[in-house]
Amino acid sequence: MATDTLTVIDNRTGQRYELPIQEGTVRAMDLRQIRVGAEDFGLMSYDPALMNTASCRSRVCFLDGERGILRYRGIPIEQLAEHSTFLETAYLLCRGELPTAPQLEAWVDSITHHTMVHENIKRFLEGFRYDAHPMGMLVGTVGALSTFYPDAKRIMDPRAREIQTHRLLAKMPTLAAFAYRHTIGMPYAYPDNDLSYTGNFLNMLWKTTEVKYKPDPVLERALDVLFILHAEHEQNCSTNAMRAVGSSHADPYSAIAAATAALYGPLHGGANEAVLRMLQEIGSKDRIPDFIKRAKAGEGRLMGFGHRVYKSYDPRATLIKRLADQVFAVTGRNPYLDIALELERIALQDDYFVKRRLYPNVDFYSGLIYQAMKFPVDMFPVLFAIPRTAGWLAQWEEMLLDPEQKIARPRQIYGGAARRDYVPLEQRK
Ligand code: CMC
Repeated sequence: MATDTLTVIDNRTGQRYELPIQEGTVRAMDLRQIRVGAEDFGLMSYDPALMNTASCRSRVCFLDGERGILRYRGIPIEQLAEHSTFLETAYLLCRGELPTAPQLEAWVDSITHHTMVHENIKRFLEGFRYDAHPMGMLVGTVGALSTFYPDAKRIMDPRAREIQTHRLLAKMPTLAAFAYRHTIGMPYAYPDNDLSYTGNFLNMLWKTTEVKYKPDPVLERALDVLFILHAEHEQNCSTNAMRAVGSSHADPYSAIAAATAALYGPLHGGANEAVLRMLQEIGSKDRIPDFIKRAKAGEGRLMGFGHRVYKSYDPRATLIKRLADQVFAVTGRNPYLDIALELERIALQDDYFVKRRLYPNVDFYSGLIYQAMKFPVDMFPVLFAIPRTAGWLAQWEEMLLDPEQKIARPRQIYGGAARRDYVPLEQRK
């Protein structure tokens, strides 16, 4: 008998099946042959929230939640955070290899020269209320970009995919900055091609009357490192949305709008915003025990804690905690840091969190840095969406080129009413 197999005995029929095991998985479609009769559809697997289902093969990101390991294309996140730039990391993610010097130069040059958006986008933004959430505006405007680039529909043309990748990486910061300027009633600041990716983003956010905006080099680098840390994280909720929408062969702007919408939720990219609101609500260290008590009783969660995959310290949280000191040396210490540190200390000693292996995740400290850098809380998820665009695009292209992939279409177990007749309105009780 082959050893790399799973023997299944169906006790309803006594029938025995040998299912191949490959790379630690059995194929759900191999279950279909298990039937009780000719009319039977065949066995399916039931996996709400896809807790134990690999939906693709991927070469983009390796994550070991037990050991706290994160690698992009094989390279440890710690090395990228120390030596790389966001744009170089984006190249690595999208192309699979680190670029040579001329490749990097061409990549940076192309992305730098695609940062402008059509003037109509500005008018589109005018349609939003003055207090619109910038993430809502980002979802709307990035989706709208698809109407400006009809060539984006040619998703099977490598050159068309390449140009949309450059455009999306280039324009997400512009859309994000314009959305922010809209909320504070400031004129839009146009991109400055002399600056780095993050330097230019800071320019579009903060430039006022000066002729040339000069970003603080420490903050510019800190933001670049934060962008590297947020660039990719394998099959999370928003990446799954990107792949699912992309699998219908929608253009990448529409798929990125869907992924951004998924990221907006407080259980995903909205968590850094929720952390700050939680720290504000706690207000002082003496109120922490009561807050933890309520979280344990199920009255709300300790935001920035816990992860579907990491069951030890999130490696990104370790790097961000270190980065915080460099940023606070420039901006001054964030007063909420002491509450966060104390909250972490108490939670990590508490049986409830220890038993469930709930540790700080990437969002626990990132919000404190963003706030110290003067970003309003509403902008936090936007600061996640900009770099994650690189990961989404890498995963989207991989999905399109994977011959095993088809339109994503899960099954269901129907639990609704059996057949029944329509009742005319006047006869309904
Ligand atoms: N505070 C208190 N209890 C928690 C928390 C938390 N933050 N997270 C999980 N639990 C408890 C939960 O109540 C459950 O307890 P029990 O077994 O008694 O019912 C147990 O831990 C397992 O939780 P779960 O909801 O089944 O775990 P999950 O894998 O479905 O959820 C999570 C993962 C990230 C959604 C969740 O931990 C959470 O809601 N955390 C807070 C939100 C957050 O920080 N999200 C950012 C995630 S990292 C950034 C990103 O990649 O998006």
